[in-house]
Amino acid sequence: MVKAAVFSLLYPLLLSALVLNCQCQHRTLHVVYMGARPDGDVSVASTHHSMLHKVLGSASSAKESLVYSYGRSFNGFAAKLSNEEAKRIAEMEGVVSVNKNQVYKLHTTRSWDFLNLTTDKLGAPPQSDVVIALLDTGVWPEHPSFNDSGFGSPPAKWKGACTGQNFTCNNKIIGARFYNSDGYSGGEDQSARDTEGHGTHTASTASGVEVEASYFGVAEGVARGGVPKSRVAVYKVCWSFGCNSADILKAFDDAIVDGVDVISVSLGSDWPADYVDDTIAIGSFHAMKNGILTSNSAGNSGPYPVSVSNFSPWTLTVAASTIDRKFVARLQLGDGQILSGILINTFDLNGTSYPLIWGGDAANYTIGSSPDYAKFCLDGAMNTDMVAGKIVYCEALFDGATILLANGVGTIMSDVTFDTPDYSFSWPLPATFISPEDGKKVLNYIKSSCNPVATILVSDAWKDGMAPIVASFSSRGPSAISPDILKPDITAPGVDILAGWSPLAGGTSVYEGDTRSTLFNIVSGTSMSCPHASGAAAFVKSLHPTWSPAMIKSALMTTAYVMDPRKHRDLEFAYGSGQINPVAAQDPGLVFDASEADYVNFLCKQGYNTTTLRLITGDNTTCASTTAGRAWDLNYPSFSLYVEDGHKISAVFTRTVTNVGDANSTYTATLYMPSPSINVTVSPPSLTFSSAGEAQNFTVTVEGPAIAQQPIVSGAIVWTDGKRAVRTPLVVYNYLPGAPYNLDGSGGTAAPGKLPFRNSRSGKIGQVKPHPQF
Ligand SMILES: *[C@@H]1O[C@H](CO)[C@@H](O)[C@H](O)[C@H]1NC(C)=O
Ligand SMILES: *[C@@H]1O[C@H](CO)[C@@H](O)[C@H](O)[C@H]1NC(C)=O
Ligand SMILES: *[C@@H]1O[C@H](CO)[C@@H](O)[C@H](O)[C@H]1NC(C)=O
Ligand SMILES: *[C@@H]1O[C@H](CO)[C@@H](O)[C@H](O)[C@H]1NC(C)=O
Ligand SMILES: *[C@@H]1O[C@H](CO)[C@@H](O)[C@H](O)[C@H]1NC(C)=O
Ligand SMILES: *[C@@H]1O[C@H](CO)[C@@H](O)[C@H](O)[C@H]1NC(C)=O
Ligand SMILES: *[C@@H]1O[C@H](CO)[C@@H](O)[C@H](O)[C@H]1NC(C)=O
Ligand SMILES: *[C@@H]1O[C@H](CO)[C@@H](O)[C@H](O)[C@H]1NC(C)=O
Ligand SMILES: *[C@@H]1O[C@H](CO)[C@@H](O)[C@H](O)[C@H]1NC(C)=O
Ligand SMILES: *[C@@H]1O[C@H](CO)[C@@H](O)[C@H](O)[C@H]1NC(C)=O
Repeated sequence: MVKAAVFSLLYPLLLSALVLNCQCQHRTLHVVYMGARPDGDVSVASTHHSMLHKVLGSASSAKESLVYSYGRSFNGFAAKLSNEEAKRIAEMEGVVSVNKNQVYKLHTTRSWDFLNLTTDKLGAPPQSDVVIALLDTGVWPEHPSFNDSGFGSPPAKWKGACTGQNFTCNNKIIGARFYNSDGYSGGEDQSARDTEGHGTHTASTASGVEVEASYFGVAEGVARGGVPKSRVAVYKVCWSFGCNSADILKAFDDAIVDGVDVISVSLGSDWPADYVDDTIAIGSFHAMKNGILTSNSAGNSGPYPVSVSNFSPWTLTVAASTIDRKFVARLQLGDGQILSGILINTFDLNGTSYPLIWGGDAANYTIGSSPDYAKFCLDGAMNTDMVAGKIVYCEALFDGATILLANGVGTIMSDVTFDTPDYSFSWPLPATFISPEDGKKVLNYIKSSCNPVATILVSDAWKDGMAPIVASFSSRGPSAISPDILKPDITAPGVDILAGWSPLAGGTSVYEGDTRSTLFNIVSGTSMSCPHASGAAAFVKSLHPTWSPAMIKSALMTTAYVMDPRKHRDLEFAYGSGQINPVAAQDPGLVFDASEADYVNFLCKQGYNTTTLRLITGDNTTCASTTAGRAWDLNYPSFSLYVEDGHKISAVFTRTVTNVGDANSTYTATLYMPSPSINVTVSPPSLTFSSAGEAQNFTVTVEGPAIAQQPIVSGAIVWTDGKRAVRTPLVVYNYLPGAPYNLDGSGGTAAPGKLPFRNSRSGKIGQVKPHPQF
């Protein structure tokens, strides 16, 4: 099922990166996956070399072709191959799959910036043995967030390395590797030094020490990561063009052996991909096998349904939500009116008022522009003489560059297509972004005044009483591939997050003309929420070093802060189990554990057979007979029931909980299901434990009438012992308004037993690219 499909080009971006990599004609980077690492002291590299020798005809071309040997945690290699050569390699013994290198994107809604990270309220006890790995753009090693003052030497288990030119590790950043398989670095150093800002931001969010911070004077205060005493291991897999899958896989291979505790991956593809086509799913499967939890971003393709990526059940999939602050840039009109906009304005006009015009009155008629274009302040539409020295009111959200380049003083924007921003932008000139309603007031003032003037104030942080709310850009469930697994798992702060930045990355990530340098920035995205979850996972791991990845994940999910369903049309498909609550996750009471065998069983239920299963596990694991069916028995800390149109609601879930609370304890189930027509039964209704580590089973039966074209209904099952609440959401759904994908699966290539969801290899998903437009 896979070999023919792996060559399909899923990502247009891929092409540009592949071209760069081509010294030899038609040879592009391929990832050859050969499964689990052979036992014993075998040189896998020489095997890889001789395989290439056989296909390419000479030792020297084999040497030239081979980019990586993976052999530390699993077996495989990356090599430059033509399609023909790749096919021949695919037929060789021991080869599980051959995939063309893919380029993944960073999950930041870049260019919109702002807010003030006081992040986690957890007082972190000593966690100096926990190592958080970040697969990202690297870090700025001299950044104050990674000051190692007071840190002892790395934990004894640490086996990592610090490589690269002009990059020095310390006792905070204890490892740094970089991966650049196609040799193109866009002028960046051959090291894990971050020139983008993204990796410094994610690493300092998860692990940064306390440091005085501000973004050009805005949001002054103390910035810190969730687990300031933890160590950072950096794996630079992303460069200015994106992140190669060959590099990502190599980074997983190394991180597992290096001895990291949590892997944080704030990147992914734009569209859902089946597990076999997803490097992050495969790398994180091996991490799970080795006791390491991978936390990954859900993606920035919301608010469209079925847009979540990185949804493998062995990882934690993190959505992004607001915190209780927002940035407000006020403006004052000459008549005394004060209006508030959402934007991070760092430029101080010192209270001076400047002439104010409407963009429509500054059309460049000589090139055929008109007020209808100029009111949007479009590139090339403006008469620069009219703009110079003025504040311009524009009826569109844009980066302000046309006004800046025409020597305008500042800009006031509003946009009827985008009236309630839930995250803040920051532009390279004095600016604010007001509601269309307030925009009318500005326009009325301009039209009714003979000498209109205005000034824009530096932004203040305001309290946002609505938080937490999942951001519009955060990708929504359900999972396109596994409808029986509720995704995303959890939400964490990902809007207007202040954290470290690379001083080489510029002041506003959108506009290259902004040459200001900053050590901190305020940005939004699931890239920003993911390291919050990684930090929380590291915190739990530091307190419970023997817990499996599934136990840590369960602790985070069952203790999550319950989100307000009234504020979220998509309910759990926006926020999963709720907002991460690290302090409560220390003591979850009961956990839902799962082992490699459980995930294998899950894949078999998904329609994988012994052959296709191997594409993920890489070993000789088999599927027991014909096990395809619903994946309701994976011991997952949430419940998801997809019902086809016209079918009755009917499912039995089995679960096992392990006692990690008081030895002698009794937990009683409480049910919450708002729909009276859906019957939910939990059996037995109470569970009694007499020792720590004891496991007990229960079943959840869900029954109801046939449904069609109905939105999701969600409830929850909560086990309580009087002190702790172990909460698991339960979602029943069959219809998603506005889903971008055809959910009936017609024409799909789903394996037998898979639910009729389109999988990535249908080639059709690529036509739909829900993505923020800014
Ligand atoms: C496994 O599944 C694939 C794709 O569904 C199919 O092509 C293959 O024949 C199956 N193999 C076996 C051994 O059933
Ligand atoms: C690191 O922190 C220590 C203690 O606060 C301080 O003395 C030192 O100057 C800092 N080093 C850097 C490079 O900022
Ligand atoms: C090392 O990098 C720093 C930061 O970019 C730079 O200031 C310094 O000149 C570099 N040193 C060398 C030897 O390249
Ligand atoms: C965030 O803003 C609040 C209130 O404006 C301020 O008290 C706090 O110090 C700021 N924190 C950071 C990290 O900037
Ligand atoms: C505002 O005042 C500061 C400090 O005096 C000065 O540096 C800055 O240029 C002034 N800004 C404008 C727009 O005049
Ligand atoms: C109008 O547009 C043309 C073409 O871009 C440009 O050369 C000219 O300078 C513009 N006029 C003004 C007054 O901005
Ligand atoms: C799988 O089994 C075959 C035959 O028993 C054996 O040759 C091979 O080494 C095994 N592969 C792995 C990865 O264990
Ligand atoms: C649990 O209860 C049993 C029987 O009541 C008792 O023997 C045992 O000591 C208790 N264990 C703990 C840790 O309290
Ligand atoms: C729970 O279920 C598993 C699998 O069905 C079974 O092996 C185990 O004995 C059960 N445990 C208890 C306490 O009933
Ligand atoms: C729900 O349970 C009640 C009581 O057992 C029963 O009367 C009813 O028919 C059930 N409804 C469904 C939809 O199964």
